[in-house]
Amino acid sequence: MNIRLIDIPKVHDKRGSLAVIERDIIPFSLKRVYYLFDVPSDSYRGGHAHKEQESVIIALSGSFEVIVDDGKVKERIMLNKPTQGLYIPTNMWREIDNFSSGAVCLVLASTDYNEKEYVRDYKTFKSQFVG
Ligand code: TYD
Repeated sequence: MNIRLIDIPKVHDKRGSLAVIERDIIPFSLKRVYYLFDVPSDSYRGGHAHKEQESVIIALSGSFEVIVDDGKVKERIMLNKPTQGLYIPTNMWREIDNFSSGAVCLVLASTDYNEKEYVRDYKTFKSQFVG
């Protein structure tokens, strides 16, 4: 499976920590940033794949779990560190659940928002995008 965890460098001193995302640690050029917040703990997000968009997901605060599925193998990954990003390539089904209270899910995306490049039906994903 083509996903991977990316370590985000941080600078720490007695005043706290500062994490920096520079171009070279993200495997695409960044087009858009969005974030999920005020998410109820029983909420379920995602439930789609992307034909074009690559993304990196970061738990800026709190924790949640990301289920990634390439149509053959499924993995559940807990994100709970603001210094760790999960890279998700194109054509990968993803779901996000188990949000802790106060969780903030930051998404770095390689494309502008375009509903046409979403695949929101799992059967379509399986039949069209799994080789
Ligand atoms: P959705 O894709 O369902 O969110 P998630 O991936 O977290 O399940 O998007 C929720 C709503 O927000 C939907 O109406 C589309 C809209 N939206 C935008 O307008 N711009 C964006 O960049 C994104 C990601 C979503």
